[in-house]
Amino acid sequence: KIFSPVNFASAYNPGHVKSLLLRRENLRYIGTNPVAGQRSMSQSSLAGKVAIVTASTEGIGLAAAQALGKRGAHVVVSSRRQANVDKAVALLQSQSIQVTGTTCNVGKAEDREKLVQTTLDQCGGIDILVSNAAVNPFFGNIMDSTEEVWDKILSVNVKSAFLITKLVVPHMTKRGGGNVVFVSSVAGYQPMQALGPYSVSKTALLGLTRVLAPELAHSNIRVNCVAPGVIKTRFSSALWGNEDIMDEFKSQLSIKRVGEPEEVGGVIAFLCSEEASYITGETITVTGGIGCRL
Ligand SMILES: NC(=O)c1ccc[n+]([C@@H]2O[C@H](COP(=O)([O-])OP(=O)(O)OC[C@H]3O[C@@H](n4cnc5c(N)ncnc54)[C@H](OP(=O)(O)O)[C@@H]3O)[C@@H](O)[C@H]2O)c1
Repeated sequence: KIFSPVNFASAYNPGHVKSLLLRRENLRYIGTNPVAGQRSMSQSSLAGKVAIVTASTEGIGLAAAQALGKRGAHVVVSSRRQANVDKAVALLQSQSIQVTGTTCNVGKAEDREKLVQTTLDQCGGIDILVSNAAVNPFFGNIMDSTEEVWDKILSVNVKSAFLITKLVVPHMTKRGGGNVVFVSSVAGYQPMQALGPYSVSKTALLGLTRVLAPELAHSNIRVNCVAPGVIKTRFSSALWGNEDIMDEFKSQLSIKRVGEPEEVGGVIAFLCSEEASYITGETITVTGGIGCRL
């Protein structure tokens, strides 16, 4: 009895429950009411939002920019090379996406500051950050990795992700809230043996997500993460381009194929939308069904 819906709700607001019961016939219309459909469309819309996506001139970053842009956000794309930025801007413009482009090597403080300032100057604020950049300069036994390798990987993949978040948070706060999404990896859960330091850096992002979420919730900023499996991009071509590795890898997959960048981009856009308004501190794995746990 205690758990019947009416008793549960009455404990909070008996008057409200009565009025709900009186209007019970209204419930019949919920399934067909066109307003319900409109509401869910507006919840997925990002119209009026400004989104920075780092490392976004190809691969998962570009797909995230496309997914955010198609939902109405003004996207700010960047990467290290101007030629790549120009190409990405032209592509997004051809898809009628509002876009600004600039160079930014996320490992450099002055570049991160320039990215944020350019966004503020050209778009007037910041609502969304997708921290997507990562490097992996090392393949091999972890015991052979050097201090230089660790400095590079942790600096770009983890420290820069935090420092750019720190830069954008005051501007999100000014707008009344926002969304941060980190791009981790299945390797963060299931370390890939030849990618030890990279795997550790991706595990660190799962922790960063969980540390930031409660602190930034006070500013109405949600912090989430995606952990892709093997996705067909240049970054992972050594994996999906090698038949032996892929045969072994596919044995762990439920969906027996490599993922496409768009399949990650859509999840990122969902996390940034109002449809995900009660999700924070979470990592969504996008792996074709690999069992992921720490
Ligand atoms: N592909 C996968 O299977 C896979 C799986 C799990 C996780 N991920 C993660 O997904 C993210 C994106 O990877 P991806 O596969 O989409 O890579 P990608 O297709 O190779 O694209 C990499 C992008 O990053 C830019 N970039 C590289 N270093 C940068 C830096 N220091 N600062 C700013 N931009 C930089 C590149 O442009 P420039 O050369 O012009 O800088 C390019 O736009 C990474 O965090 C990666 O760890 C990928």
